[in-house]
Amino acid sequence: MAYVHRTTIGADGRSFVEGPYVVADQHGIQVWISNAKDQGQTSRNQAQLAEAAKGKEPGLNLIFPGIWLLNLGLRLKNFIAFVPVNNQTTRYYLRVYHRIRNPLIAKIFEFFIRVSNRVIINQDKLVVLAQTPPNSVDAHGDKLIGADRAISQFRRIHARMLNRNDPVANAIEGESE
Ligand SMILES: [Fe+2]
Repeated sequence: MAYVHRTTIGADGRSFVEGPYVVADQHGIQVWISNAKDQGQTSRNQAQLAEAAKGKEPGLNLIFPGIWLLNLGLRLKNFIAFVPVNNQTTRYYLRVYHRIRNPLIAKIFEFFIRVSNRVIINQDKLVVLAQTPPNSVDAHGDKLIGADRAISQFRRIHARMLNRNDPVANAIEGESE
């Protein structure tokens, strides 16, 4: 975020990547994010992050096959549906939930969010389009690190689903780590 989105949601420079703490099973992947400004601090380990995550909603909740719930604060949530159109294209639908009661302020806020989400999404798009190979299933050369554990969990579960006829019916046991 501090890199791809350095002019938008990453502008506060939270380049210290801790964890994240990730829970993954056959239903989806939950990610607790605690990135911060780099002040030379040391990272907490997974057990400490698990403890800190207790009772807290994850920052990102992926529900298979393609729903994201983003917790951007108690009063701001994004719902994103990733809808495959064909082998090369995924369309995504984003809905923002807020609790602004005043209709005028809500309208202004929604306008601002709509514009800024377009900018943010285009920043992602530049990165996605530049990726080689274009399909992550073929990305065997990727060197994933600890900070990528949500991605490695996704790829692991996704690979299993591709090998099974009915990924939801065939429950995957013990995915959580
Ligand atoms: Fe992004």
